[in-house]
Amino acid sequence: MRGIKILGAGMYLPETVASNDWFSTILDTNDEWIYSRTGIRERRISESKPNWHMACEASREAIKNSGIDPSEIDLVLAATCSPDYFYPALSCIVQQQTGCVNAAAFDINSACTGFINALDTASRFLLDGDYRNILIVASERLAPHCDYTDRTASILFGDGAGAAVVTKNDKPMYSYLSAKGDFFNALYCKVDQSRLNCPLLKPDTMPEGLIDTEAKTHFMQMNGKAVYKFAVDAMETAVNKVLERSGLNKGDIDLYIPHQANARIIESAVKGLELPTEKVYVNLENHGNTSSACIPTCLAELSADGKIKDGMTICLVGFGAGLTSGAIIFTQ
Ligand code: UT7
Repeated sequence: MRGIKILGAGMYLPETVASNDWFSTILDTNDEWIYSRTGIRERRISESKPNWHMACEASREAIKNSGIDPSEIDLVLAATCSPDYFYPALSCIVQQQTGCVNAAAFDINSACTGFINALDTASRFLLDGDYRNILIVASERLAPHCDYTDRTASILFGDGAGAAVVTKNDKPMYSYLSAKGDFFNALYCKVDQSRLNCPLLKPDTMPEGLIDTEAKTHFMQMNGKAVYKFAVDAMETAVNKVLERSGLNKGDIDLYIPHQANARIIESAVKGLELPTEKVYVNLENHGNTSSACIPTCLAELSADGKIKDGMTICLVGFGAGLTSGAIIFTQ
């Protein structure tokens, strides 16, 4: 039987705060519009610290809180869609920097659904007993991906990292993962190929459905309305599917942690699912959408406040570029 227990969680947010008022100095926008449409007041921007630095800080805190030695970690899984390097994997840098000398390491990229997919993967690695402790870190430095002349997308995102050390539990865990590649063009960011110097290379072919908007595709391209609609449906479907798999009722869940994309998306899904709002954790007002790092930073905040208790049943639900989505129910 699959089951996971969080031994320790950690998070890192960069120091620099980008408030809605700051955005109004660079774009035609204002606090009232941003807050009422998204629930976000401010987010952090990592001015000079790379993604791997944030990932390592969050990981160190998670390992410290887990009470185990880094050498006891058997696998490092990093979820990111904004790595500093194509290779090595972010997880390899984290492995080296945090002293997880005995760990294997690989990355998972499913954008904002990254932590859900990584936790599901971790639970399967823990099943056979070869892997006892797994560090999952989700870390995003999205500021370099965002187009700060695009007021629709740039205001949503923040930088940050969250991490958790997990081990096998004898209490069951259930998951539902999904991908709808039909919507891959709703949210994408193309690899920048403007500095290639092989004389044989020609401009590459974009898959049908992706457009090269004045060569700005190395910045995030987002169809906000399409993502919004998908998000509400996907969150409701994922929660219903995972509840069905678990045989549990909505009321059996002690805590829901949704991906923190937009307060209105969360509110709509919570209303559609008829969930009690007091059981739904939301922290996006001061963080913005940190993509894969949203859910583990929620876990880290809740753990620090002593709100993740043994025996609690927790439902995580997320969605992101791909378009991907998924939900997990586990008992701590
Ligand atoms: O992890 C997944 C990441 N992505 C998402 O979660 C995105 C999901 N989508 C959303 O959250 C929302 O669609 C947005 C927040 C992106 C946009 O909100 P909306 O209520 O769908 O606004 P809209 O795109 O319908 O735009 C309404 C108006 C437009 O003006 P007109 O055409 O009505 O005159 C926009 O140009 O609001 C304008 N607008 C803004 N105005 C002030 C768009 N962005 C801004 C802004 N400030 N930042």
